[in-house]
Order: sequence, then structure tokens, then C-alpha cells
Amino acid sequence: MGAAVPTTDPRIQRARPPGDERAAMAAEVRASLTAPVPWLPSKYFYDEHGSRLFEEITRLPEYYLTRTEVGILEDRADAIVAGVEADELVELGAGAGRKIRLVLDAMARRGTLRRLTLLDVHEQGLRLALDALERDYPGLHGRAVVGDFTEDLDSLGPGGGRLLAFLGSTIGNLEPAEVPRFLRAARGGLDEGDALLLGVDLVKDRRRLEAAYNDSAGVTEAFNLNLLCVLNRVLGADFERGGWQHVAFYDDERGWIEMRLRCRRAAEVHIPAADLELRFARGDEIRTEISCKFTRASLEGSARGTGLGVTEWHVDREELFALAVLRPSRS
Ligand code: SAH
Ligand code: TRP
Repeated sequence: MGAAVPTTDPRIQRARPPGDERAAMAAEVRASLTAPVPWLPSKYFYDEHGSRLFEEITRLPEYYLTRTEVGILEDRADAIVAGVEADELVELGAGAGRKIRLVLDAMARRGTLRRLTLLDVHEQGLRLALDALERDYPGLHGRAVVGDFTEDLDSLGPGGGRLLAFLGSTIGNLEPAEVPRFLRAARGGLDEGDALLLGVDLVKDRRRLEAAYNDSAGVTEAFNLNLLCVLNRVLGADFERGGWQHVAFYDDERGWIEMRLRCRRAAEVHIPAADLELRFARGDEIRTEISCKFTRASLEGSARGTGLGVTEWHVDREELFALAVLRPSRS
């Protein structure tokens, strides 16, 4: 574990040997779709089309998350960076790598910026993000790791002068039970003086939350349905896109938004690569995403015993979203 593998682009490494990714996906999809509560792993949302749709989501009027997080970074990035003497910025789940520029700019203003590392599952997206960032930050030493942030953090190598950023409330897309494990792994990539900058969406009024995942332009619906198109393309499945409906609602007991695909009419679906034949009745549902909402107390609770503790909490005026700074603790 942990030995990174080169690709044809010297800036990009794979966290694991290429192997048969399609077979691994087929096995995962087989297990998740035949589970008692059928679901699909959300990392498969992000093919090229899905990544583009996600970028569109971030600009929707109802989707306050990105805009609010950017606002907090505009106000606080200098102060955040001043508290961590980092020369390396690492971003997990970087996507287009646009938001991270606000942190890069703050590090550049302090004169500490040397290295940037991006980790994401989507290799082509990493290449494009690196191209743009290297063009706009001359002298920056950029590298990328194609990997899974729930499994491959050890491939980042040891910390020391590292600021690790996990923005966009992507941590909310992990099962709550996985969060402590993730934080422990993140701690493993940090030295004493390093820090984790974590973007978390906050618990709030249900209407505001549900509107963000049920936009009137139907982009979130298209993003959700694209998952079926990915299964059709990669695994040869025959999901009929029009036979499924986007559903997103806030479960206030669990404190998460849940996204599902609901079957509009009885269907038989074949997934040859996963050796699966499935029958769905009208109204059957597949869970495709969760998006947990946090409070400072709930995040502190998840961090307990992980070796990281919350030391800063930056929010917008409406307290919609928070940027938390976590540092290695003694406990
Ligand atoms: N950081 C950006 C993008 C968030 S979208 C922002 O805040 O707007 C989530 C990103 O995480 C996508 O780029 C997706 O490809 C990536 N991703 C999703 N699941 C992942 C996983 N398990 N491991 C690594 N990257 C993942
Ligand atoms: N992490 C963000 C959120 O939970 C972005 C995101 C992930 C998202 N999956 C999504 C947004 C599905 C809309 C739909 O909001």
C-alpha cells in the first residue's frame, strides 16, 4: 500500500496500479445494487459530463454552498493561511480546482507557496486543473494523485509544511460512520504544525436545504440521472434514463439530504459486466448520494479520538456554511 504508480504525465501518479478498474466497478455496483437498501457509489457521478454538470450546480441560484464558501474564503483565507506555516497545499476532491485559487493566492501573498498536490478520482479533470493552475501560478510545483480520498491518503506521502484542504462539504458525502476513519487517515498525512481546512454545510431550515438539491432548472436531476448513463456506458447496462425520477429530501433525524432515483414504471435492467439482471417495480428507489449537514458540536464529536481537533470556525453572516480548521491534538 502507498506506493504510487507513474502515468504517462510525469506530474500525475496513480494511488494504485491500473488493474481492471471496470471489473472493480462492476463488483462494487453488483454489491450495492443487491444490498437490502439498493444504492450506488457516488464517486461514479464524476465522468466528464458529470463533472461538467457539477460545475453547473455550483452556479445555480438555489445552490448557496459554493458561493457562500467562496465568500468565507475571500474574507478569511489570509487569516487562515497566517496560522499555518505551509509551503504545500493539498486539495482532496479538487474538481476543476477553481476554489482553491483563493487559498493559493493567500499563500502566495505570504510568500510561502511552493507546492500544490491535487487528489481526485477523475484523471482527465486533474490534468486540466493542473494545466490551468501551472499556467496561472508560475514557479508553482504542481502534482496530482489519481485516487480515492477514503482509501488512498497514504499515497500523499508524509506531511510537514502542509495545508490539507477538503472543501465543498464533500466530507458530507461520506457516511457519518466513515468520518472518524477519514479524519484519522488525514491526520496521518499531517505533521504537528500542519492543518486540515474543512468546508462543511450547516444544519438549517429544511426548505433552504431541499431547494439546493431540487433546483428549478433541473441540473441536479440531470446530474443524478447521469449516474445511470455512466453505468450504461462503462458496464453495458440498459437503464432507460427516462424511466427514473430524481428525488432529494432532508432527513432531519439523520441530518442529511438524501438523493435517490425512483423507478417510474416496472423495468428489467441488465448489467452484463456485473452479471446482473434486476427487476424494478414502479416506485422502487436506489439511493445515490447523501449530503450530511453539520454543527460545530457534531463536527467536534466526529473528530473526537481521531488525533485532530477543531481550532478555528469561520462562518458567513447567515451561518449557512463553515470553514473549520483542524489541527493535530495530543489526545
Ligand atoms: N472541491 C470542488 C469539487 C467538489 S465535487 C468544490 O468544492 O466545488 C467532488 C469532487 O470529488 C469531484 O471532483 C469528484 O471527482 C471527487 N470525488 C468524488 N468522490 C471521490 C472519492 N471517493 N475519491 C476522490 N475523489 C472523489
Ligand atoms: N458535497 C456537495 C454537497 O453535498 C456537492 C455534491 C456532491 C452534490 N454530490 C452532490 C450536489 C449531488 C448536488 C447533488 O452538496
